[in-house]
This record gives sequence, C-alpha cells and structure tokens, in this order.
Amino acid sequence: MTDEILAVASDPAEREAELSLRPRNIDEFVGQPELKEHLGIVLQAASERNEPTGHLLLSGPPGLGKTTLAHVVAREMGANLRQTSGPTLERAGDLAAILTNLEDSDILFIDEIHRLPRPVEEVLYPAMEDFELDLVIGKGPSAHTIRLDLPRFTLVGATTRAGLITGPLRSRFELTERLDFYSQQDLDQIVHRSASILGVVIDAGGAAEIARRSRGTPRIANRLLRRVRDYAQVRASGAIDEGVAALALEIFKVDHKGLDKVDAALLEALVVKFRGGPVGLSTLAVMVSEEPDTIEDVYEPYLMRLGFLQRTPRGRIATRAAFEHLGETVPEAAIRLFE
Ligand SMILES: Nc1ncnc2c1ncn2[C@@H]1O[C@H](COP(=O)(O)OP(=O)(O)OP(=O)(O)O)[C@@H](O)[C@H]1O
Ligand SMILES: [Mg+2]
Repeated sequence: MTDEILAVASDPAEREAELSLRPRNIDEFVGQPELKEHLGIVLQAASERNEPTGHLLLSGPPGLGKTTLAHVVAREMGANLRQTSGPTLERAGDLAAILTNLEDSDILFIDEIHRLPRPVEEVLYPAMEDFELDLVIGKGPSAHTIRLDLPRFTLVGATTRAGLITGPLRSRFELTERLDFYSQQDLDQIVHRSASILGVVIDAGGAAEIARRSRGTPRIANRLLRRVRDYAQVRASGAIDEGVAALALEIFKVDHKGLDKVDAALLEALVVKFRGGPVGLSTLAVMVSEEPDTIEDVYEPYLMRLGFLQRTPRGRIATRAAFEHLGETVPEAAIRLFE
C-alpha cells in the first residue's frame, strides 16, 4: 500500500476536500509556466478555429495536477469531460462503447493510459487519427468489419509512467507535456490559496514551512495543510505560523525535506544496510514492504530530485548527499561509485 500522504484520496471526505481545492481554470492553476503557455496557445487557436483541440498527453509523478489539467482543458474549451482509466477498459468493446457515446468536441480523459491492454489501445489508433472505429461483426469465416464515424473528440491521456507508452500511441498525441515538481514559491502560493478557500488563518512562515515539506507536490501541500489545520485547532489557537506548522509536521512524521516514513526506510536500507548500493529495485521494495511500481512512480522521483538516489544499470545507489542526510560517513566503496 502507498503511504496515505501520497495516495490518491480514497476516503470520501479527503476526496471531497481535494475536489474543493482543485483549480478550475488555467488562471487558478499555479506554476508549470511552460506547460501553461503551450496549452494556452493550443486552446486559444483551436477555439478561434472552432475546432476541438488536438490530443494531449500529460505525464508526471502523482499529485502534480494531471487530472486537474484535464478538467481545466474541458472547462476552457466549454466541453464535456468523460473520464475513464486504462485498467477499467478491459476489452476493446469497453472502449468502443464509450467512443460511440461521445458527442462532438467532448473531452475523453483516460487516466493511467499506460495500463491500457494492447487490443484496447489498438482501437484508439484509428479513433485518434481519423475519428473512426472498426467494429468486427460476427465470428469465424462470416466475420466482417464495419467502419463507423466517430464525433471529433479530444483525447487527454494521463500517465505516471511516460516510458511505458508505446510508440504508436505516443505519436498520435499532438501535444505531450511533462509536469514537473513544483518550486517552493509555487507551493507557497498553493498553500495560501487553499488556506483561503478553507478559511484558515496562516502567515508567511507557516505557509513556507508546509511548502518546504510538500515534496514539490500540490496534493501533499494541501494534505499537510489540512493536518496542520487540525493540529492548530486542537493544540494551538487555530492560526498557523511557522512554529505551529513545524510541530504539527513533526507529529505527523514528515521531516524538514518532506521525507516521510517510507522515504526514510528506503534511504535507511540503501545507505545503512547496503552501504550505498547498488541494490535492485525489487530488493529495495521488499525491504520497505512496498510494490516495486510504487517505489518507482512515487518515492524514487522525489529522492532523485533531491539528489539522494540514482538509478544505474546495476541498481539503485545512494549519493553522498543521502549519506550526509542520515549523518553517515561515506564508505570508500561508495565514493568510487560517485566518481
Ligand atoms: N497547479 C496547481 N495549482 C493548485 N493546485 C493544484 C495544482 N495541481 C494540483 N493541485 C492540487 O493537487 C490535487 C491533486 O492534483 P491531481 O489530482 O490533478 O493530480 P494527478 O497528477 O492527477 O495525480 P495522480 O497521478 O495521482 O492521478 C488537486 O486536487 C489540486 O487541489
Ligand atoms: Mg489523477
């Protein structure tokens, strides 16, 4: 299981809280300036031509705003959004049913698009390219194909694993955008925005403390804000300043770099038990009782961003910074790995 701080909200209250904080249009969407510029141009051009936007692929670690952006695109285009996901589309027929029910200029959002089964993915190729659907009628020797015209829709695909998208699928997207971890400044702005929606009093120091520990991720910033708000209400005056935020996050075991229990266990395994590695992904996963996919999608990207971990052909290695973070001396063998 993914640690609850990182997981997509599963309980209804958390999900609702997340929805209420979700930016609705491109102006409310904080950060990612390059992506916003690209999107702004493409959306405006399409809307001036009165055409649907080209298909859009969004990739990046969890909680950076892929689903939010899909909704923003729909709203900016004044279009309806139909949402589905790779793993729920088990058979070609599942996707065909959705496609034939679309209307002109609808946005079809496919989350976790890297998990589409191959036969389903193949239905998408002519649908994306020519807005056509090939249906096989009947079985055996009498089977034949009929071709249906589809409405002109826009596909928005989201994935945490851009590397797993096949060439033919990737090439059919007009725009491919990668979301990056957010800067401290952006997260700061997100915390202030969310606090004002939630009606929480927070000062600059309080917001900065939460932003610093949010591992570059808006979803985590919002979640930490709610935890700190609870703490402030129960153990302090209700208002959030730097001290209150720091105490609260100490209690919830988020360290000053935003590393949580699983990150800490991962680093500990890599640095202390394996003296810096290299260690295989599956071994690391077993050490911290997580799925290898979760380690790869959720934990490693941020540890790499901090410069604590590197992926090498022989396995994962800890960097000098990781040893220093844990207050460990760097062994000779590990130094040779860095150089
Ligand atoms: N640019 C942003 N500005 C402000 N808030 C944001 C931004 N991006 C994301 N958020 C907040 O973070 C939450 C999580 O974002 P979202 O659900 O879009 O992430 P995701 O990339 O789809 O994650 P996953 O891969 O887990 O599906 C949103 O509900 C929203 O409140
Ligand atoms: Mg999402």
